[in-house]
Amino acid sequence: MSKRYTITAALPYTNGPIHIGHLAGVYVPADIYSRYLRLRGNDVAFICGSDEHGVPITIKAKKEGVSPQDIVDKYHTIIKKSFEDFGITFDNYSRTSAKIHHDTASDFFKTLYAKNEFVEEVSEQLYDAEANQFLADRFVTGTCPKCGNEDAYGDQCENCGSSLNATDLINPKSAITGNVPTVKETKHWFLPLNKHEAFLKEWILKGHKKDWKPNVYGQVKSWIDDGLRPRAVTRDLDWGIPVPVDGGEGKVLYVWFDAPIGYISATKEWAAREGKNWEDYWKDDNTTLVHFIGKDNIVFHCIIFPSMLKAEGSYILPENVPANEFLNLEGNKLSTSKNWAVWLPDYLKDFPDQQDVLRYALTANAPETKDNDFTWKDFQARNNNELVAIFGNFINRVAVLTNKYYDGVVPSPSAYKTIDEETLTTLKAYPSVISSSIERYRFREASQELMNLARLGNKYLADEEPWKTVKTDEDRTKTVMFIALQIASALAVLSEPFLPFTSSKLKTILCHSELDSESTWEGVSTKSILLPAGHSIQKGKPDLLFLKIEDSEIEKQLHKLAANKKANEAAKKQVEPQKDEITFDDFTKLDLRVGTIIEAEKMPKTKKLLVLKVDTGIDTRTIVSGIAGSFTPEEVVGKRVMVLVNLAPRKLRGVESKGMILMTEDELGHLIFVNPDNDQISNGLKIS
Ligand code: MF3
Ligand code: ZN
Repeated sequence: MSKRYTITAALPYTNGPIHIGHLAGVYVPADIYSRYLRLRGNDVAFICGSDEHGVPITIKAKKEGVSPQDIVDKYHTIIKKSFEDFGITFDNYSRTSAKIHHDTASDFFKTLYAKNEFVEEVSEQLYDAEANQFLADRFVTGTCPKCGNEDAYGDQCENCGSSLNATDLINPKSAITGNVPTVKETKHWFLPLNKHEAFLKEWILKGHKKDWKPNVYGQVKSWIDDGLRPRAVTRDLDWGIPVPVDGGEGKVLYVWFDAPIGYISATKEWAAREGKNWEDYWKDDNTTLVHFIGKDNIVFHCIIFPSMLKAEGSYILPENVPANEFLNLEGNKLSTSKNWAVWLPDYLKDFPDQQDVLRYALTANAPETKDNDFTWKDFQARNNNELVAIFGNFINRVAVLTNKYYDGVVPSPSAYKTIDEETLTTLKAYPSVISSSIERYRFREASQELMNLARLGNKYLADEEPWKTVKTDEDRTKTVMFIALQIASALAVLSEPFLPFTSSKLKTILCHSELDSESTWEGVSTKSILLPAGHSIQKGKPDLLFLKIEDSEIEKQLHKLAANKKANEAAKKQVEPQKDEITFDDFTKLDLRVGTIIEAEKMPKTKKLLVLKVDTGIDTRTIVSGIAGSFTPEEVVGKRVMVLVNLAPRKLRGVESKGMILMTEDELGHLIFVNPDNDQISNGLKIS
């Protein structure tokens, strides 16, 4: 049955291009989902746009000595184009600087104001007198009161995900001048989240029953359990949407108040263009609203925006918010400011016409339930061992043999053997297998099922060997090739959400457009024949769907990253300040010895810990060390190390650790041993 869906993808900040973290977390899964829903005949509005307000943009503009408008214009164009080139099928990609958005957000604010949904309050806010600027959001950093992260922002801690008020930060520091802020009185409008607590509790619980992802449900529940407080939705800034009520002069809407309303204004813009009614997509209970976001956006989409919608009163609420965890790159956190990323425009330049390879690599390794790591080696392996060796190879064999044996015409089958019946039965089950994964937002699993269908085809050909039977049994060969062609045709249909460029090439190879009736998702299950006997596929040598990626291409990418890392290190030769003075007696309490690691193994079920056996000269002891992110066990065996031997023993995961290995860390978080690299120093020697 056809249904109406509003699918939103987080509006990216226009302070840099899109990178693979954004793609894996938000845009690729949202696009798969939207394409899938459309294929099933649903009415879909897939909505996104540029998030052009907020402090990150102001900071970037300041840094580059240009206006915020220059920054947003530049990146809006780059982002929009790269999404198009990558095959992300937004029905509308708008921007929050558009007039329709300013009007929509302003009206939304005025409605809540008129309904008395805000609390107006004069309070003391952090202020940087030198910069003549109130410090909220990313203008201020400090220590997170919840987890102790020293680089938390004024509105959020990226380490623990907590949503914060700037005044919550311990040791706040201005991001503009580095000064310790003073405080100054100012008036703001607050959304009293506490007032919506009962509603949120009930709604979240309902969501949970609808199978929200455990990471999303868990985060939201713990915030609600912690107690909700009023949240300022206006700011003393000059970049943003002016506060449209009396007393709001010189103030703008908080970016997280206006940006999600961007989903609504982008829908309005689209509906006007397409002659549709936008309210059908936002105010009709039969419409399903789904927000695709990364985990740092959970609080805004599951608590603040729903409270705004509820307070306004006429909107539907999201049915699900399938937030993903984070993708790392080669073992390190992706970072726009540190230039530690694979940028989409660069990828499109370096790998022309290979959008589907990245889509596949990111989907097959999507950070759905935990943070995951993108490595160029894995990318190469996904391409060479799966897309080329399985999918591409199967299609190529089918197309080449059909041309060679039958001049490109689908042959007529004769009586089926058991294996043929079984293969067709398995084939027909695939649409529902893949649907079921997609509908539960398990895109990794869905992509692997698609690959399994290609595997089925490959195995069928390998077992039935038409290249052998062609010499002995013409009828059998025709039957086998007929069935292989049905599998190829099913792949053309079912791959569309995941590998749209490949699907389209494959449909060209199989001449799908010449078929009497269109092959549909349902058709793969219900029709007994997708490509009828007598149908002609493309003549001649088929185009290869995928090309092998050579080691040299991967090395080029790794070199690029290494160069970025070097540049970062040079730029960030910042040294930590000296700690408080200690006495000589304090020092002599430390018993530091030289040792050698003689055994190492991974601590089961952890990512960071290695269990080491260390020869300290005094004894051979166990030390549990958090270095597995930087070293494999094999790499550390034999390493000379410095050990603090008289540290009180501690149990880690049930293993008693006696002492500590001295390490240092580079700017990108790679650990380095403090290493007495001299064979003349024997184990047990004291450092003094
Ligand atoms: N710009 C935000 C980010 O990149 C996301 C905004 S999503 C919206 O984290 F809901 F506010 F639009
Ligand atoms: Zn924190």
